[in-house]
Amino acid sequence: MNNSSEELIELAKDVYFIGVFDPEIRTFDIIMKTANGSSYNAYLIKTNEGVIIVDTVKLEFQDEFFKKVEALCSYDEIKYVVSHHLEPDHAGAIPELIKRAPQAKVLISPQATAMLKSLTQSETIDFETVWTNKSITLGNKTLKFLTTPYLHWPETMSSYLVEDKILFSGDVFGSHYCDKRLFEDVVGDFSYAFKYYYDHIMRPFKSYVLNALKLYEKFEIKTIATLHGPILNQNPQKYIDLYRQYSQNKRDEETKVLSIFYLTSYKNTRNMAEAIYEGCERMEGIVANVYDLASLDEQNMIQLLDESDGILVGTPTINGDAPKPVWDLLSCMMYLEKRGKVAQAFGSYGWSGEAIDMIIDRMKFLNFKVPPMELLKIKLIPTQEELQQCKSFGVEFCEILKGKMIEMTMN
Ligand code: FEO
Repeated sequence: MNNSSEELIELAKDVYFIGVFDPEIRTFDIIMKTANGSSYNAYLIKTNEGVIIVDTVKLEFQDEFFKKVEALCSYDEIKYVVSHHLEPDHAGAIPELIKRAPQAKVLISPQATAMLKSLTQSETIDFETVWTNKSITLGNKTLKFLTTPYLHWPETMSSYLVEDKILFSGDVFGSHYCDKRLFEDVVGDFSYAFKYYYDHIMRPFKSYVLNALKLYEKFEIKTIATLHGPILNQNPQKYIDLYRQYSQNKRDEETKVLSIFYLTSYKNTRNMAEAIYEGCERMEGIVANVYDLASLDEQNMIQLLDESDGILVGTPTINGDAPKPVWDLLSCMMYLEKRGKVAQAFGSYGWSGEAIDMIIDRMKFLNFKVPPMELLKIKLIPTQEELQQCKSFGVEFCEILKGKMIEMTMN
């Protein structure tokens, strides 16, 4: 392996890194913080019958990408362009690449067909769709394709280079972590970036991750060639195991976890949350916890939401709206596999209390199951009787969580 020259980084004999580094990027896909920048990894495989390009880079970096391609081959040698994922950070240079190498066949998953036509603005592009058990052999190299959808777009796939035992994993196992030393065995500690990337990109697709791991484990993998951040050349199994651990649901399925989140101005919504908790805490088969949203950061919110079967959100109404930490919690729901979670809202209010209805509406849009319970909105300071209602609300919610049939269909 040679990583002394940025122009010619070799992963294995005749397999080169032709990606680019983006140390300046600080926000990725709007939602992700990239404190260390990122890289858009792409690869070039030389065979004795031509060249295979594996993914490209963001459009704004394509000049650098093409310089690397030109240092290694002429365009007429390129026989295939494999695109594992058509998001613009990896497919940005494809339109120009197929202009420069019109004889090259583009290989994509079937789900990527419409996207490729849209990206290239062409109906006549030479492409072929590939999936698990399909492979191509070009000269002395064979690439086997693996269907790994929803990691993290519907069209994503992976491939395995047989002779060099390299898994081209697409976005899977990536990190937004820019280090020009590139290889896992020589870069700095990127464990935080690896987990952060999983939490924000892959976590919503846990079951698809586990399906992909089943495909990967059929192969002896020496190197994982990621699309972002370090190439995993030292201990690829460690990262496979981490993904499995992150994606498995180890909890006893009989026990339901209920998280009661609240935000409070004058302790009224907090008192409601605690009364609800009192109703829930001794119920068999329920593990309930209460969390003050003012003390949670985004990572805590994602973790807690992910582990919860039931979610109750308590909010005051301030200036006709729910305060920002409540919306922050709901925005974290985009990172989750939401199916099966049951949710409701409650809160104390001074004038109108519309925040509770707004939160419930939002939960419905997010496809939570929102049981048709009587709204728990209390004006100002809850009385003892109202706190008792909160307790009963908690008990009823837990019964629903445990599977009690209710007359109306849940959202
Ligand atoms: Fe790195 Fe989903 O693009």
